[in-house]
Amino acid sequence: MGSSQHAVAKADEALLAELGYKQEFKRAFTPLEVFGIAFSIIGLLPSIASVLYYAMPNGGPAAMVWGWAVASLFILCVGMSIAELGSAAPTSGGLYFWTHSLSSPRCRNFLAWIVGYANTIGSIASVASIDWGCAVQVMAAVSIGSGQTFTATSGQTFGVYVAIVLSHGVVCCFGTAVLARLQTVYVVLNVALCLAVIIGLPAATPKEYMNTASYALGNFTNLNGWPDGYAFILSFLAPLWTISAYDSSVHISEESSNAATAVPWAIVSAIGIAGILGWAINVSLAFCMGSDLTYLLDSPIAQPMAQIFFNSFGQNGTLALWSIVVLVQYMMGSSMMLAASRQSFAFARDGALPFSSYLYRMNGFTKTPVNTVWFVAGFSVILGMLSFAGAQAINAIFALSATALYIAYAIPITVRFVFKNDFKPGPFNLGVFSLPIAIISVSFMAFVDIVFFFPTTPQTSVADMNYTVVVLGGILFLSVMWYYFPVYGGVHWFTGPVSNVGKVSEEAASSIRGSVEKNLHANVGEATVEA
Ligand SMILES: *[C@@H]1O[C@H](CO)[C@@H](O)[C@H](O)[C@H]1NC(C)=O
Repeated sequence: MGSSQHAVAKADEALLAELGYKQEFKRAFTPLEVFGIAFSIIGLLPSIASVLYYAMPNGGPAAMVWGWAVASLFILCVGMSIAELGSAAPTSGGLYFWTHSLSSPRCRNFLAWIVGYANTIGSIASVASIDWGCAVQVMAAVSIGSGQTFTATSGQTFGVYVAIVLSHGVVCCFGTAVLARLQTVYVVLNVALCLAVIIGLPAATPKEYMNTASYALGNFTNLNGWPDGYAFILSFLAPLWTISAYDSSVHISEESSNAATAVPWAIVSAIGIAGILGWAINVSLAFCMGSDLTYLLDSPIAQPMAQIFFNSFGQNGTLALWSIVVLVQYMMGSSMMLAASRQSFAFARDGALPFSSYLYRMNGFTKTPVNTVWFVAGFSVILGMLSFAGAQAINAIFALSATALYIAYAIPITVRFVFKNDFKPGPFNLGVFSLPIAIISVSFMAFVDIVFFFPTTPQTSVADMNYTVVVLGGILFLSVMWYYFPVYGGVHWFTGPVSNVGKVSEEAASSIRGSVEKNLHANVGEATVEA
């Protein structure tokens, strides 16, 4: 380790101590790897594949191309507002820590509580929706392989989903170093996949599926029956869900070097690159998908993007490309679970989650918060059970991840400006544009949250009802109840982020005990072999 690197590590540790926390994680992530986390969670092409199903019927090509462009600009504003906060105070509690330190003392505990819960639900819903998307893609691969004779039942898809979630649990327990090194592989595969679609797809598509520019860029096809304007806004779910969870870089602040600069730039550049590449992918798809959208949506493969590939690349080409899509989506799920488990760890550190004292434990052997990893995995499996409530119910976890995270993003951005506080900008700041950008971000998020509380089709039955409002509203309601609960409620003891500088933590002690024991066992093992 060079001396400059050593100085960066010291500065990181000093900034964290100023915020009230001691260094518990290893700073295993370089700036490029922090970007890798944000970018791989966006997981561009596989994500677009997962949500093409929502963009396509709500406006067709025009929604894919122009809905994406409009929404990405707003998302970039949100990302810049978050990046400013992340640069000023890079701590793994992130949104929730900022809310507490920037609010008025009268409501800081309550607001931090709500943000912590919204962030936890949003992160877990992101894990669930990514892994659900992955399960659907695996089933699409089987359908392609069977020559479109196989269509998965929801029981089969759920089984694959559970297997994926559990395997991610195992991956996230291995330790930060292995996951950090894998980020570079994720980024390279991601970009390669995007280029394959942007360049390879137009080259391979037969004439009968090629669309004219006026169709690809101008046709508005509305299949779900909403008024056109409203449908167009619903199509935003595709970019919103794809370019999301960028606060994940914040949650690994305490594991990254030069965090005050690396974290905000990771957020902004991941959103910028994803916005541009994603737009190019949508344009390529709009030109190469043919004009029979109903067929793409209802085909046996049950994944419009896979069907587009199938029409253009044939069975074997699609299988090859699609297996990379599945792999990248799988990697995206493991990054998201990593971030979600760190977020829950930080929230449990301050005692706010049920069973916090059990969840806030660092495993001495892996040096990772194994208990919060399994908490996230278990909760994801429960969310996945929505798939049995009806065809549309699973959509709720996609909308849930965007809407819950927007509640968690909007509150700290707002409190920074409405309360008197001593906000000190970090190295990344927008100067005079801070306030206007924040106003745009918060208005956009409020608007989007209201829109997604409505059902996805106008004819609401039990199967088609929007479970977003049920799940999110239900969990937030319970968290408020718990906050105000007589005697035991958070209002009586919750004081927001708890400083732990200077305490000799139980974790540190038990990790020392653990490593001593491990050495003992190792020595005993050698002794036995020698004997
Ligand atoms: C869009 O394309 C479809 C299919 O070709 C066509 O039926 C429809 O009239 C077009 N709509 C507009 C607004 O051009």
